[in-house]
Amino acid sequence: MIVNRHDPERVFDLDLVRCTENAALAAWKHFGKGDKNLADFAAADAMRGMFQLIDCKAVVRIGEGRKDKAPGIFTGERIGSWRDGSIPAAVAVDPIDGTTLTARGLNGAISVLALSTCESPDGDPTDLFPAIPSHYMEKIAVGPMVADSDVCVKLDAPLEANLSIIAGQLRKRLRDLVVVVLDRPRHESIIENIRGIGCRIRLIPDGDVAAAIAPSLPNSGIDAYVGIGGSPEAVLSAAAIKCLGGQQLCRMWPKDAAERRQLTESGCSDDDFRRAWSVEMMAPGNHLIFSATGISDSPMLRGIQYVGGHCVTHSVLMRARNRTVRLIEAFHDLSRKTMRLHSTGREASL
Ligand code: FBP
Repeated sequence: MIVNRHDPERVFDLDLVRCTENAALAAWKHFGKGDKNLADFAAADAMRGMFQLIDCKAVVRIGEGRKDKAPGIFTGERIGSWRDGSIPAAVAVDPIDGTTLTARGLNGAISVLALSTCESPDGDPTDLFPAIPSHYMEKIAVGPMVADSDVCVKLDAPLEANLSIIAGQLRKRLRDLVVVVLDRPRHESIIENIRGIGCRIRLIPDGDVAAAIAPSLPNSGIDAYVGIGGSPEAVLSAAAIKCLGGQQLCRMWPKDAAERRQLTESGCSDDDFRRAWSVEMMAPGNHLIFSATGISDSPMLRGIQYVGGHCVTHSVLMRARNRTVRLIEAFHDLSRKTMRLHSTGREASL
């Protein structure tokens, strides 16, 4: 195989879609069946299995399972073929964002990954995708029309000021603005505040990777994402938002005094707690590819449909360098479709 080392994204890109497609299809087998760990295991097994066929030496920088010891692909793990001469890469991955949604048969679940290679062949890919030590981050995400303006949103600004900027840039009335917020008790005052300003809120039970990306997509119906969600999820959405030209600002949010103390003891300074992370800081470099496949419908992607012996998947593939966005609808004939599983090292049917 001739490897184009100047444009490694072209070596991997379609195979990365196969990774998220297979993970989504494996998760779909367990969709609505009540067992989130089984769904997560199946999705991770399919994604790892597909990665074994990709000619890269990838290290997982952002993995899942840190919050709840769920099965998954973990930070520090090596995935890919790891052959001599294969391309070094860093990966951020979540085989299912929305494991509970998947188990409960609800909308909003996706399978997602971002892969980055170095600018130079001697670079260290582990410098790509920063490990954020806190479990959660405060987040605000906006689309390209807002990100490109001279006055952009700020994490420290009052919510009303940020929403006014967003409305102004989108030429909408505040009362027509649609803001997505995770439905959590910790967001009570944010929700009250947004409704007090007069904006609409779309409350979601889970799945803030898709929610944060949605404002950067044309016609998603979402103007902003605001609230506190997982830190690994923030890195994943940053990778996509960078490819789309939007912006997401995030800051570590220790959930209680014990986590803050633990972070301080592990070396976080006051500056670290204050730092606002932009998409460029969370997803640096130009050799960045993002792929996601819908498991169930979300503001970002349609979910899997079962039509006459076929599963139809909807994926998005983007690269940062050229900001090309590909929407891929795939028809998988279930009488023939197989996917390689890591656990058995073999192809399995769905
Ligand atoms: P999982 O798929 O790992 O369950 O994560 C779902 C999710 O909703 C994320 O999208 C979000 O960032 C995070 O959980 C929020 O965490 P919490 O449920 O603890 O509020």
